[in-house]
Amino acid sequence: MAKASVLLGFFVGLVMVGLVTAARFDDLYQPSWAFDHFAYEGETLHLKLDNYSGAGFGSKSKYLFGKVSMQIKLVEGDSAGTVTAFYMSSDGPYHNEFDFEFLGNTTGEPYLIQTNVYVNGVGNREQRLDLWFDPTKDFHTYSVLWNQRQVVFLVDETPIRVHTNLEHKGIPFPKNQAMGVYSSIWNADDWATQGGRVKTDWSHAPFIASYRGFEIDGCECPVSVAAADIAKKCSSSAEKRFWWDEPTLSELNVHQSHQLMWVRANHLIYDYCTDTARFPVTPTECVHHRH
Ligand SMILES: *[C@@H]1O[C@H](CO)[C@@H](O)[C@H](O)[C@H]1NC(C)=O
Ligand SMILES: *[C@@H]1O[C@H](CO)[C@@H](O)[C@H](O)[C@H]1NC(C)=O
Repeated sequence: MAKASVLLGFFVGLVMVGLVTAARFDDLYQPSWAFDHFAYEGETLHLKLDNYSGAGFGSKSKYLFGKVSMQIKLVEGDSAGTVTAFYMSSDGPYHNEFDFEFLGNTTGEPYLIQTNVYVNGVGNREQRLDLWFDPTKDFHTYSVLWNQRQVVFLVDETPIRVHTNLEHKGIPFPKNQAMGVYSSIWNADDWATQGGRVKTDWSHAPFIASYRGFEIDGCECPVSVAAADIAKKCSSSAEKRFWWDEPTLSELNVHQSHQLMWVRANHLIYDYCTDTARFPVTPTECVHHRH
């Protein structure tokens, strides 16, 4: 609630709308599969991967725009072959999706974060980074900020990727489909670690990812709201204004732009935009994206 009140103070006279939630797991999410691979310890949730199963959860509601965060502490020690994911996705063959995938590694070797963006069912926009800290030692906050102008992937509030709305260049942007929020842990040793060369060592199971600090501050779209009405419900207008539609959030500020440049200069490992073997013709959005 604090955030909403602060913003209200700045925009007196406008009705600011948005659902502010810093909540317990159960308020926002429910297990999707492998309920016996969930363990609760106070406000912390542990998800387990063993040789029988991984586990996953999803939000009870769908959202159009806003900011979604969770604190995650990744699998300690040997996590090779495992992937922990935090993502937002709509449904159907032309779905949109924003992904964080955390690719495990052998003990002492760095985890990688792979991000991807799907628009109208098409992904293939992978980027990979290593991190400036060990994500298995402590909880860190991973977030997606999504508005009409951009999708920003953040790690502890540092932007690591921006997907800009380039509709004026004829490039589609995800802004009409409400998304659920999901997380899961599973075995992906055919590709995840060092290109699939390192397999999951099941003698080190169970592999445990821990979560807390669940926050969703977005435009909630109950299933009862018809798809056609969702865009209208979640667009700012003369009567109502969502905080994420403020002009200051239509692009990164100067400080954030510098942070993103620093991340890319020091931690970027792979960017589909520069993979000419895979894309002999540079994807159109890469030509226009400055990042
Ligand atoms: C799974 O691992 C346990 C412990 O290492 C082992 O006893 C069991 O046989 C394994 N099960 C399968 C299905 O591989
Ligand atoms: C794992 O560690 C190796 C060696 O440091 C590194 O090349 C690789 O990028 C790391 N991450 C993954 C997911 O393979």
